[in-house]
Amino acid sequence: MDDKSIIEKINKLKKEKNAVILAHNYQRPEVQDIADYSGDSLALSRIAADTDADVIVFCGVHFMAETAYILSPDKTVLLPDKDSGCPMANMITADQLRALKKERPGATVIAYVNTTAEVKAETDICCTSGNAVKLLDKLKDIDDLIFVPDKCLGSYLSKKSGKDFFLWNGYCPTHVKIQPEDIIEKRKMYPDAKVLSHPECTSAVLELSDEVLSTEGICRYAQREDVQEIIFATEIGIMHRLKTENPGKKFYPASDAAVCSDMKKITLEKILWSLEEMQYEIKVPDEICKKARKAVDRMIEIV
Ligand code: 13P
Ligand code: SF4
Repeated sequence: MDDKSIIEKINKLKKEKNAVILAHNYQRPEVQDIADYSGDSLALSRIAADTDADVIVFCGVHFMAETAYILSPDKTVLLPDKDSGCPMANMITADQLRALKKERPGATVIAYVNTTAEVKAETDICCTSGNAVKLLDKLKDIDDLIFVPDKCLGSYLSKKSGKDFFLWNGYCPTHVKIQPEDIIEKRKMYPDAKVLSHPECTSAVLELSDEVLSTEGICRYAQREDVQEIIFATEIGIMHRLKTENPGKKFYPASDAAVCSDMKKITLEKILWSLEEMQYEIKVPDEICKKARKAVDRMIEIV
Protein backbone atom coordinates (compact mmCIF):
# COMPACT_ATOMS: atom_id res chain seq x y z
CA MET A 1 0.00 0.00 0.00
CA ASP A 2 1.35 3.48 -0.78
CA ASP A 3 1.52 6.30 1.78
CA LYS A 4 -1.49 8.09 0.24
CA SER A 5 -3.76 5.07 0.73
CA ILE A 6 -2.45 4.50 4.26
CA ILE A 7 -3.13 8.13 5.15
CA GLU A 8 -6.68 7.92 3.74
CA LYS A 9 -7.37 4.79 5.78
CA ILE A 10 -5.95 6.34 8.96
CA ASN A 11 -8.12 9.44 8.54
CA LYS A 12 -11.23 7.33 7.92
CA LEU A 13 -10.61 5.16 11.00
CA LYS A 14 -9.79 8.21 13.07
CA LYS A 15 -13.25 9.62 12.37
CA GLU A 16 -15.03 6.31 12.93
CA LYS A 17 -13.34 5.75 16.27
CA ASN A 18 -13.32 9.39 17.40
CA ALA A 19 -9.54 9.23 17.77
CA VAL A 20 -6.94 11.95 18.07
CA ILE A 21 -3.33 11.45 16.97
CA LEU A 22 -0.62 13.11 19.07
CA ALA A 23 3.00 13.19 17.92
CA HIS A 24 6.11 14.22 19.79
CA ASN A 25 8.39 16.73 18.05
CA TYR A 26 10.99 13.96 17.43
CA GLN A 27 8.68 11.70 15.43
CA ARG A 28 9.26 10.95 11.74
CA PRO A 29 8.11 13.80 9.42
CA GLU A 30 5.21 11.79 7.94
CA VAL A 31 4.00 10.90 11.45
CA GLN A 32 4.10 14.54 12.55
CA ASP A 33 2.22 15.45 9.37
CA ILE A 34 -0.66 13.06 10.00
CA ALA A 35 -0.93 14.00 13.68
CA ASP A 36 -3.66 16.34 14.92
CA TYR A 37 -1.11 17.89 17.28
CA SER A 38 2.67 17.87 17.55
CA GLY A 39 4.39 19.11 20.67
CA ASP A 40 6.64 18.51 23.65
CA SER A 41 5.78 16.29 26.62
CA LEU A 42 4.01 19.13 28.44
CA ALA A 43 1.91 20.28 25.49
CA LEU A 44 0.90 16.73 24.60
CA SER A 45 -0.08 15.87 28.17
CA ARG A 46 -2.24 18.99 28.31
CA ILE A 47 -3.99 17.97 25.09
CA ALA A 48 -4.43 14.42 26.39
CA ALA A 49 -6.03 15.82 29.54
CA ASP A 50 -8.45 18.07 27.66
CA THR A 51 -9.41 16.09 24.58
CA ASP A 52 -12.99 14.98 23.84
CA ALA A 53 -11.71 12.08 21.73
CA ASP A 54 -12.40 8.53 22.92
CA VAL A 55 -9.09 7.20 21.64
CA ILE A 56 -5.62 8.77 21.87
CA VAL A 57 -3.03 7.38 19.46
CA PHE A 58 0.23 8.42 21.06
CA CYS A 59 3.15 8.67 18.66
CA GLY A 60 5.97 9.01 21.12
CA VAL A 61 7.58 6.78 23.71
CA HIS A 62 6.02 4.58 26.38
CA PHE A 63 6.18 7.02 29.33
CA MET A 64 4.34 9.65 27.27
CA ALA A 65 1.46 7.28 26.51
CA GLU A 66 1.38 6.31 30.20
CA THR A 67 1.20 9.98 31.19
CA ALA A 68 -1.70 10.45 28.76
CA TYR A 69 -3.47 7.52 30.44
CA ILE A 70 -2.73 8.88 33.94
CA LEU A 71 -4.40 12.14 32.93
CA SER A 72 -7.26 10.52 30.99
CA PRO A 73 -7.89 7.04 32.42
CA ASP A 74 -11.35 6.94 30.85
CA LYS A 75 -9.82 7.10 27.35
CA THR A 76 -8.26 4.34 25.29
CA VAL A 77 -4.57 5.20 24.88
CA LEU A 78 -2.74 3.42 22.06
CA LEU A 79 1.00 3.25 21.45
CA PRO A 80 1.56 2.01 17.88
CA ASP A 81 4.85 0.29 18.78
CA LYS A 82 4.99 -1.28 22.22
CA ASP A 83 8.80 -1.33 22.15
CA SER A 84 9.07 2.40 21.75
CA GLY A 85 10.54 3.15 25.18
CA CYS A 86 12.75 5.83 26.67
CA PRO A 87 16.12 4.44 27.81
CA MET A 88 16.46 7.31 30.28
CA ALA A 89 13.09 6.55 31.88
CA ASN A 90 14.27 2.96 32.38
CA MET A 91 17.39 4.08 34.26
CA ILE A 92 15.50 4.20 37.57
CA THR A 93 12.99 1.68 38.95
CA ALA A 94 10.38 2.21 41.66
CA ASP A 95 12.39 -0.14 43.95
CA GLN A 96 15.51 1.96 43.49
CA LEU A 97 13.58 5.15 44.24
CA ARG A 98 11.99 3.59 47.35
CA ALA A 99 15.46 2.62 48.60
CA LEU A 100 16.75 6.15 47.96
CA LYS A 101 13.80 7.64 49.86
CA LYS A 102 14.65 5.42 52.84
CA GLU A 103 18.21 6.72 52.77
CA ARG A 104 16.98 10.32 52.68
CA PRO A 105 13.76 10.41 54.70
CA GLY A 106 11.87 13.70 54.45
CA ALA A 107 13.40 14.72 51.11
CA THR A 108 11.05 16.00 48.41
CA VAL A 109 11.25 13.91 45.25
CA ILE A 110 10.98 15.66 41.90
CA ALA A 111 10.76 13.38 38.88
CA TYR A 112 11.25 14.39 35.31
CA VAL A 113 8.19 13.29 33.35
CA ASN A 114 10.55 10.86 31.53
CA THR A 115 9.88 8.18 34.17
CA THR A 116 7.63 5.14 34.41
CA ALA A 117 4.21 5.45 36.08
CA GLU A 118 5.53 3.32 38.97
CA VAL A 119 8.33 5.80 39.59
CA LYS A 120 5.91 8.74 39.32
CA ALA A 121 3.79 7.04 41.98
CA GLU A 122 6.78 7.29 44.38
CA THR A 123 7.30 10.95 43.56
CA ASP A 124 6.09 14.19 45.16
CA ILE A 125 6.08 16.36 42.04
CA CYS A 126 6.70 15.82 38.35
CA CYS A 127 8.26 18.30 35.98
CA THR A 128 8.91 18.56 32.26
CA SER A 129 11.72 20.29 30.41
CA GLY A 130 9.20 23.05 29.65
CA ASN A 131 8.27 23.92 33.24
CA ALA A 132 11.14 22.67 35.43
CA VAL A 133 12.82 26.06 35.95
CA LYS A 134 9.51 27.72 36.91
CA LEU A 135 8.64 24.83 39.19
CA LEU A 136 11.95 25.00 41.05
CA ASP A 137 11.40 28.71 41.48
CA LYS A 138 8.10 28.00 43.24
CA LEU A 139 9.79 25.47 45.52
CA LYS A 140 12.25 28.03 46.95
CA ASP A 141 11.46 27.07 50.53
CA ILE A 142 12.26 23.39 50.12
CA ASP A 143 15.91 22.51 50.64
CA ASP A 144 16.13 18.74 50.74
CA LEU A 145 15.47 17.66 47.16
CA ILE A 146 16.00 14.47 45.19
CA PHE A 147 15.87 14.80 41.40
CA VAL A 148 15.43 11.74 39.16
CA PRO A 149 16.42 10.40 36.69
CA ASP A 150 18.26 12.92 34.47
CA LYS A 151 21.52 14.15 35.98
CA CYS A 152 21.95 16.67 33.12
CA LEU A 153 18.57 18.37 33.57
CA GLY A 154 19.03 18.04 37.34
CA SER A 155 22.42 19.74 37.42
CA TYR A 156 21.13 22.49 35.11
CA LEU A 157 18.24 23.10 37.52
CA SER A 158 20.55 22.98 40.50
CA LYS A 159 22.73 25.72 38.96
CA LYS A 160 19.70 27.82 37.95
CA SER A 161 18.06 27.60 41.36
CA GLY A 162 21.27 27.80 43.38
CA LYS A 163 20.22 24.66 45.26
CA ASP A 164 22.16 21.51 45.85
CA PHE A 165 20.07 18.44 45.24
CA PHE A 166 20.64 14.76 45.21
CA LEU A 167 20.91 13.73 41.55
CA TRP A 168 20.21 10.27 40.19
CA ASN A 169 22.77 9.09 37.68
CA GLY A 170 20.44 8.82 34.65
CA TYR A 171 20.90 10.51 31.29
CA CYS A 172 19.56 10.58 27.75
CA PRO A 173 21.83 8.49 25.50
CA THR A 174 20.82 10.62 22.51
CA HIS A 175 21.49 14.07 23.97
CA VAL A 176 24.82 13.16 25.60
CA LYS A 177 26.12 12.33 22.11
CA ILE A 178 26.18 16.06 21.38
CA GLN A 179 29.66 17.30 22.28
CA PRO A 180 30.86 20.82 23.15
CA GLU A 181 33.19 20.54 20.12
CA ASP A 182 30.07 20.20 17.92
CA ILE A 183 28.80 23.55 19.15
CA ILE A 184 32.18 25.24 18.73
CA GLU A 185 32.49 23.92 15.18
CA LYS A 186 28.92 24.86 14.19
CA ARG A 187 29.31 28.35 15.66
CA LYS A 188 32.39 28.84 13.46
CA MET A 189 30.44 27.66 10.42
CA TYR A 190 27.32 29.73 11.17
CA PRO A 191 28.41 32.75 13.21
CA ASP A 192 25.01 34.51 12.96
CA ALA A 193 23.03 31.54 14.28
CA LYS A 194 21.60 31.30 17.79
CA VAL A 195 22.44 28.10 19.67
CA LEU A 196 19.38 26.57 21.35
CA SER A 197 19.91 23.49 23.49
CA HIS A 198 17.67 21.00 25.24
CA PRO A 199 18.42 20.67 28.98
CA GLU A 200 19.12 16.94 28.54
CA CYS A 201 22.45 17.97 26.97
CA THR A 202 25.59 17.91 29.13
CA SER A 203 26.49 21.02 31.13
CA ALA A 204 29.51 21.60 28.83
CA VAL A 205 27.09 21.96 25.89
CA LEU A 206 24.58 24.06 27.84
CA GLU A 207 27.31 26.50 28.88
CA LEU A 208 28.06 27.18 25.20
CA SER A 209 24.40 27.82 24.32
CA ASP A 210 22.42 31.03 23.95
CA GLU A 211 19.22 29.48 25.34
CA VAL A 212 18.22 26.26 27.09
CA LEU A 213 14.71 25.24 26.07
CA SER A 214 12.26 22.34 25.78
CA THR A 215 11.47 21.16 22.25
CA GLU A 216 8.33 23.33 22.27
CA GLY A 217 10.42 26.24 23.57
CA ILE A 218 12.83 25.78 20.64
CA CYS A 219 9.90 25.79 18.17
CA ARG A 220 8.48 28.94 19.75
CA TYR A 221 11.85 30.71 19.76
CA ALA A 222 12.33 29.89 16.07
CA GLN A 223 9.26 31.99 15.25
CA ARG A 224 10.82 35.19 16.55
CA GLU A 225 11.09 37.74 13.78
CA ASP A 226 14.63 38.72 14.80
CA VAL A 227 15.88 35.13 14.47
CA GLN A 228 16.82 33.77 11.05
CA GLU A 229 19.32 30.99 11.81
CA ILE A 230 19.38 28.40 14.56
CA ILE A 231 21.82 25.69 15.60
CA PHE A 232 19.80 23.23 17.67
CA ALA A 233 21.32 20.84 20.19
CA THR A 234 18.59 18.24 20.45
CA GLU A 235 17.21 15.23 18.58
CA ILE A 236 17.22 15.86 14.84
CA GLY A 237 13.51 15.06 14.36
CA ILE A 238 12.66 18.58 15.51
CA MET A 239 14.02 19.87 12.17
CA HIS A 240 10.79 18.95 10.38
CA ARG A 241 8.58 21.17 12.51
CA LEU A 242 11.13 23.99 12.53
CA LYS A 243 11.33 24.02 8.73
CA THR A 244 7.58 23.60 8.17
CA GLU A 245 6.69 26.44 10.52
CA ASN A 246 9.47 28.78 9.39
CA PRO A 247 9.96 28.66 5.61
CA GLY A 248 13.04 30.59 4.55
CA LYS A 249 14.81 30.34 7.93
CA LYS A 250 17.90 28.18 8.37
CA PHE A 251 18.28 25.36 10.88
CA TYR A 252 21.41 23.34 11.62
CA PRO A 253 21.59 20.30 13.89
CA ALA A 254 24.49 20.58 16.36
CA SER A 255 25.15 16.89 15.71
CA ASP A 256 23.75 14.40 13.19
CA ALA A 257 24.43 11.69 15.79
CA ALA A 258 21.53 12.90 17.96
CA VAL A 259 18.95 10.39 16.76
CA CYS A 260 16.60 8.68 19.23
CA SER A 261 15.91 5.29 17.63
CA ASP A 262 12.93 4.72 19.93
CA MET A 263 11.24 7.86 18.65
CA LYS A 264 11.63 6.58 15.09
CA LYS A 265 9.94 3.23 15.69
CA ILE A 266 6.47 4.54 14.90
CA THR A 267 5.56 4.56 11.20
CA LEU A 268 2.40 5.30 9.19
CA GLU A 269 1.81 1.54 8.78
CA LYS A 270 1.98 1.02 12.53
CA ILE A 271 -0.48 3.89 13.16
CA LEU A 272 -2.95 2.31 10.76
CA TRP A 273 -2.53 -1.11 12.32
CA SER A 274 -2.87 0.43 15.76
CA LEU A 275 -6.27 1.93 14.88
CA GLU A 276 -7.44 -1.22 13.09
CA GLU A 277 -6.52 -3.58 15.94
CA MET A 278 -6.81 -1.04 18.80
CA GLN A 279 -3.29 -2.02 19.86
CA TYR A 280 -1.17 -1.54 21.94
CA GLU A 281 -3.40 -0.34 24.68
CA ILE A 282 -1.46 1.37 27.47
CA LYS A 283 -2.98 1.13 30.92
CA VAL A 284 -1.73 1.80 34.41
CA PRO A 285 -3.05 -0.17 37.41
CA ASP A 286 -5.52 1.89 39.47
CA GLU A 287 -3.48 2.27 42.63
CA ILE A 288 -0.32 3.38 40.76
CA CYS A 289 -2.36 5.62 38.48
CA LYS A 290 -3.93 7.50 41.42
CA LYS A 291 -0.58 8.06 43.13
CA ALA A 292 1.17 9.08 39.90
CA ARG A 293 -1.70 11.44 39.11
CA LYS A 294 -1.07 13.30 42.37
CA ALA A 295 2.52 14.05 41.31
CA VAL A 296 1.40 15.20 37.85
CA ASP A 297 -1.47 17.28 39.28
CA ARG A 298 0.87 18.97 41.74
CA MET A 299 3.06 20.00 38.83
CA ILE A 300 0.05 21.43 36.97
CA GLU A 301 -1.18 23.24 40.13
CA ILE A 302 2.21 24.78 40.92
CA VAL A 303 3.14 26.05 37.48
P1 13P B 1 10.42 17.69 25.55
O1 13P B 1 9.39 17.61 26.61
O2 13P B 1 11.24 18.94 25.61
O3 13P B 1 9.83 17.50 24.21
O4 13P B 1 11.48 16.53 25.79
C1 13P B 1 11.09 15.19 25.83
C2 13P B 1 12.19 14.31 25.55
O5 13P B 1 12.11 13.12 25.65
C3 13P B 1 13.43 14.91 25.17
O6 13P B 1 14.38 13.95 24.94
FE1 SF4 C 1 14.26 9.32 26.03
FE2 SF4 C 1 16.33 10.70 25.11
FE3 SF4 C 1 14.74 9.47 23.40
FE4 SF4 C 1 13.91 11.64 24.75
S1 SF4 C 1 15.52 11.53 23.21
S2 SF4 C 1 12.76 9.75 24.43
S3 SF4 C 1 14.94 11.30 26.71
S4 SF4 C 1 16.05 8.51 24.96
